[in-house]
Amino acid sequence: MVNKWYNIAADLPISLPPPKDPDEGDSRIALLTKILPSALIDQEFSAERWIPIPEEVREAYARVGRPTPYRRAEGLERRLGLKVHIYYKFEGALPVGSHKLNTALAQAYYAKADGAEEIATETGAGQWGMAASLAAALFGLKATVFMTRSSYNSKRQRVVFMKTYGATVYPSPSEVTETGKKFYRPDHPGSLGIAISEAVEYTLRGEKRKYLPGSVLEFVLIHQSVIGLEAVQQMPEEPDYVVGCVGGGSNFGGFAFPMIGMRLRGEGFERTKFLAAESAAAPKLTKGEYKYDFPDAVGVLPLIKMYTLGHDFVPPAVHAAGLRYHGAAPSLSVLRRLGLVDAVAYTQEEVFEAAVAFARSEGIIPAPESSHAIRAALDLAKRLPPGSVIAFNLSGHGLLDVDAYEKAHVA
Ligand SMILES: Cc1ncc(COP(=O)(O)O)c(C=O)c1O
Repeated sequence: MVNKWYNIAADLPISLPPPKDPDEGDSRIALLTKILPSALIDQEFSAERWIPIPEEVREAYARVGRPTPYRRAEGLERRLGLKVHIYYKFEGALPVGSHKLNTALAQAYYAKADGAEEIATETGAGQWGMAASLAAALFGLKATVFMTRSSYNSKRQRVVFMKTYGATVYPSPSEVTETGKKFYRPDHPGSLGIAISEAVEYTLRGEKRKYLPGSVLEFVLIHQSVIGLEAVQQMPEEPDYVVGCVGGGSNFGGFAFPMIGMRLRGEGFERTKFLAAESAAAPKLTKGEYKYDFPDAVGVLPLIKMYTLGHDFVPPAVHAAGLRYHGAAPSLSVLRRLGLVDAVAYTQEEVFEAAVAFARSEGIIPAPESSHAIRAALDLAKRLPPGSVIAFNLSGHGLLDVDAYEKAHVA
């Protein structure tokens, strides 16, 4: 079991631009300090390479099934007659079905260590809400989740999941916060921006509450490094290409950064290339601008420097809801800018064929988000020389997304 997380800020050739306040308005950094557990603020600004994983978090990782499997996709190679070796790390093996639990457990632990009795967060399609709900349950905390109302109505199974773990789930806009009341009407679809504002306001209004963010902030990527650190130990051969999908960048960073760090320190992975697969619906790494922007649509959180499509960018609805995010984490953005990470964008039509081929040969129905990584891996497989090695992160399974497969007319 891995006992330290990895922080790529220590190895970047340039220093990581820190979060900052906008020129006008209240200090967002002061707000962040109030709503987050203090250890997470320290981690956000830390340049330490290794951060010890608290014993209780390591125990929780073991209880939910870490280390997750790292497997060769021999069925897929055979089915498609590929002459390359394809490996995948399977984060869908966790009980909530995605990597999101890796940071949720860490954040819930730190919330409890700070004396919190309740955590609050927002969720879009529900993967993050499920992870936060289970983490709260395992650490004996109450969980309150503001879920965009359109998803609350359409993703009922995820609501039931969260409630089974004991969470209170409000469709957002709700009538329990002032922000929610401003927007509230029974048929309002909601947005992640409104849901974040509601969760932040709810956290501030109560005693012993902490707010948990699901991606994009550096400490989230630090916690996710457990994926890549395990993979490095599990790999029978060093990959020529390492691939992951990108929403805010946490599963990609978690998988790839420990290897990029070894490369930057001259300890291996010298010839490995790193490829981020994003959704053409939110193409920040391929079409965004590199600048300071708000990580949330309303601008309640501090500015971070990243590739962004603008915090008011509204991506079209796609099945891979977890990739509908306007920006990419600061460290991933720096690596992209330095040319150490390449990026490709796919439409949802382009990824389902790859997802189906994977399901029929490996048995796992992949999450629509993760299917972007599968598609990118298969495109590489066609053009790389025989014997090449490709490793991708299968960030989640798609068992609660089978309706997307039906709507995409592949099932
Ligand atoms: C299965 C899965 N993969 C990927 C993502 C994208 O997020 P991130 O880029 O932070 O890993 C999500 C987000 O909800 C997800 O649920």
